[in-house]
Amino acid sequence: MATVLITGASGGIGLELAKIFANDGYDLVLTARSENKLLELQKELSVQYDACSYVFPCDLAEKDAALAVYEFTRSKGIVIDVLVNNAGFGDCAYLAESDWQKQYDMVRLNIIALMQLTRVYLPEMKERRSGKILNIASVASFAAGPGMSVYYASKAFVRSFSEAVAEEVREYGVTVTALCPGPVKTGFEKAANLEGSKMFTLLHAADAHKVALCGYRALMKGRTLKYYGLSAKAMSLAVRVFPRALARKVAKKVNEKK
Ligand SMILES: NC(=O)c1ccc[n+]([C@@H]2O[C@H](COP(=O)([O-])OP(=O)(O)OC[C@H]3O[C@@H](n4cnc5c(N)ncnc54)[C@H](OP(=O)(O)O)[C@@H]3O)[C@@H](O)[C@H]2O)c1
Repeated sequence: MATVLITGASGGIGLELAKIFANDGYDLVLTARSENKLLELQKELSVQYDACSYVFPCDLAEKDAALAVYEFTRSKGIVIDVLVNNAGFGDCAYLAESDWQKQYDMVRLNIIALMQLTRVYLPEMKERRSGKILNIASVASFAAGPGMSVYYASKAFVRSFSEAVAEEVREYGVTVTALCPGPVKTGFEKAANLEGSKMFTLLHAADAHKVALCGYRALMKGRTLKYYGLSAKAMSLAVRVFPRALARKVAKKVNEKK
């Protein structure tokens, strides 16, 4: 029986991914801060899919939290076949006026935890010559994002890092996939203070289940980079064709509130 570790499984895209993996017969390790939501999900996965899951609540923005997750799986003798680095959040604010702690935690979660989890599980995957990693990036990874500078830069890291590591481990039969969706209907909008922003009022926000399924399929095919939907693909092409200054201006508008 294969096991998947999913970060940010308590809601949004992570929760939908958990259901998809459970439906496909995977055992699961579920992590996020909200213990009650994880326990509810554990029960639902057991009843609906007869799935076996472990719950490990933790704040991945804390120093070395990723090592605690690794220690939990190691102590239980759980082999992680698939790692899904999904937990992440944004913040709509100009840097000069932003909450420093929130920016710092964002970097710790979106970048450090994702990098550290990848670092600790990758050697075992290489040794077994099998393993899959799905990192949730964003279309935000393709341009600079005035109004959300730290978030866009964190997702640029996720995409670049994923593409690079994918090449490093390809010959060992291990795959790394970066999923790049545009806006998705989840708790992200509220957590990022994006309510009323053009990003969520003018652009069509995708369904979390459809995005999760797209990521799951790309992961299973071993794709390195996957956009969700035509608009994401179009945006990624546009930033290559049009001047970067224009992309920055468009991103600034999109991040503004009406
Ligand atoms: N929604 C979008 O428009 C969109 C677009 C592109 C990319 N993405 C990316 O998709 C991923 C999933 O986000 P989502 O849209 O599903 O948002 P969401 O509904 O807010 O889910 C975020 C998940 O991350 C967990 N999380 C947040 N802070 C955490 C922390 N400090 N430690 C551990 N877990 C933490 C949350 O659980 P707890 O609160 O219980 O900790 C939750 O399970 C993120 O990486 C996001 O950047 C989202």
